[in-house]
Amino acid sequence: MTGADGLKWREAMVSRVIPVEVFDLVVFGASGDLARRKILPGLYRRYLAGQIPQGSRIIGAARSAMTLEEFRAMVAESIAEFVTPEKRDPKAMAEFMAILSYVGIDAKGEAGWPELAALMREGVVRAFYFSVAPTLFGDIAERLHAHGIADAQSRIVVEKPFGRDLATARALNATLASHFEERQIYRIDHYLGKETVQNLMAVRFANILFEPLWNSQFIDHVQITVAETVGVEGRGSYYDKSGAMRDMVQNHLMQLLCLIAMEPPYHFDPDAVRDEKLKVIRALQPVAPTDIVRGQYAAMHGAPGYVEDAENPDSRTESYIALRVQVANWRWKNTPFYLRTGKKLRARTSEIAITFKEPPHSIFDDAPGWRENVLVIRLQPNEGMNLKVMIKEPGPGGMRLVQVPLDMSFAEALGTEGADIPDAYERLIMDVIRGNQTLFMRGDEVEAAWAWTDPIIQGWEARGDRPSRYDPGTSGPEDALMLMHRDGRRWREIAE
Ligand code: BG6
Repeated sequence: MTGADGLKWREAMVSRVIPVEVFDLVVFGASGDLARRKILPGLYRRYLAGQIPQGSRIIGAARSAMTLEEFRAMVAESIAEFVTPEKRDPKAMAEFMAILSYVGIDAKGEAGWPELAALMREGVVRAFYFSVAPTLFGDIAERLHAHGIADAQSRIVVEKPFGRDLATARALNATLASHFEERQIYRIDHYLGKETVQNLMAVRFANILFEPLWNSQFIDHVQITVAETVGVEGRGSYYDKSGAMRDMVQNHLMQLLCLIAMEPPYHFDPDAVRDEKLKVIRALQPVAPTDIVRGQYAAMHGAPGYVEDAENPDSRTESYIALRVQVANWRWKNTPFYLRTGKKLRARTSEIAITFKEPPHSIFDDAPGWRENVLVIRLQPNEGMNLKVMIKEPGPGGMRLVQVPLDMSFAEALGTEGADIPDAYERLIMDVIRGNQTLFMRGDEVEAAWAWTDPIIQGWEARGDRPSRYDPGTSGPEDALMLMHRDGRRWREIAE
C-alpha cells in the first residue's frame, strides 16, 4: 500500500466523535463496583473525547448518605484508578465534576425520590442505569413511575445477570414490561460493545470475500475462546451460584456465536439484527453430556483453588467450561462450534477462529503440513484479525508450502488514535443516549438463550457431575482436549 493510500484508509477508519444529545443520566448503584470501575470512568472518557455536550448531567443515586462533594471525591478516585494518566486532564476533570449530582435514595422506600423528581428536566434525554441487583429492578421501575420521573421517552439500562434461568428471566422481563416498553429497555451484554465484536459484522457483511464461503461447505469448524487469568477471588459468593455457563456462555459467548452464525440482516437496524440472532439461538441443538467438559481450578503454590475462593468446599460449580455446539440449520449443518471459557488459565485472550476446509484436491505432492485457512478475530488483547494462508516457502528447495499469517492489528492499522479504542461500556452508554438498541439484547433473545442453557445445567445437576480439576496457568482440564481430539481436531493454543 502506498503512503497516500495508507493515510486515506486510516482517515476513513478512525471513527469521528459525534456528540450525543443533551441528557440526564441517573446511575442507580452509583457507589457500587461497576459504576466505579466502568460506568463513571467511561463517562469521563467520553466527556474528554467531546461526546457529552454541555448541559448534560450525570446524577449518582445510591443508598449511601453521601454529600455531593463526597460523591465527586469518589468519582475522582475512580478516575485516578481506572483512567490512564495521560487522560487525566485537570481542566476536563474539573468540568466533568461540575456535571455530577448526587441523591441518596432508598430503592425500596420513599427516601430520596421526591429529590430526584425535583432534579428532572423537560426536553432532554432521560436515561436510568440500573447498576443494582436485579431484585431491585421492580422497586426502582415502580418508583420512577410513581414519582413521575420516567416518561414514555425515558430509557432504562439493565445489567447481567439477567435471571439465572428461563423462569427468573421471564419474571424480570415481565416486571420491566409492566413499567416500560421494550423499545425503552437496554439490556447490556458488554461483549457487544467491544470494538472487534462489532467488527465481526463489518467483516462479514461489508466484504464480498467471506460470505460466499461462510457455511458448512467451506468451514470445517469454529472455535470461540474467552480465557481469563483472574480467578473468582472477591466475588465467589456470586460466582458460585452462577458458574462459567451462566456467567459467560449464556450471554457473552452466545452473542459471539450469534454474530458468526446469523444470516445477513436486511439492514443494520436493531430489530433486523436481533431477529437474526434470535433465529440462531433457537436453532441451537441440545448439547449431549459427552459434549460438555467442566472444570474447577485447583490450589497451587499456596494460592487458593476455586473451592477456597468460592468458600464452598463442596462446590460443583465450574470455573471452566468447554462445549461442542451444533446450529441446526442449512448453513451450519455439520460445522461444529467449540466454545470454551475459564478462569485462571494460561493467558487472557479472547478470540474466534474460523477454520476453513482444506482444498478438495492438492496439486502439490510434497506438501506436508496444514493446508487449511484460518481466520482469527482477536477480541482482546491486541484487537485485530489474522488470516492464515498457504504460500510457497521461499528458496530454491522445490515446491514446499508454508502457512503464514496475514496479520492486522487494529491499533497499528489505525495509528495512535486507533489504539485508543473506547471501552465497551463507553460505546454502549452513548448508544443508549442515541436511542440505538442494536447492540443490546432483546427480551426474547435473553429468554431463548436461557431456554437453551437450562436443560444443559439441569442435566449435569441431575447427574451429579463433578467438574474436573485443572491447574492454574494451564489451558484447562485435560478432558477438554478430548472433546476435539475425538473429532480429529485440536484447540488453538491459549496465548497472548
Ligand atoms: C463478566 C463476567 O460479565 O465478564 C466476569 O461476570 C468476567 O466473570 C468478565 O470476568 C469478562 O469481561 P472482559 O471484558 O474482561 O472480557
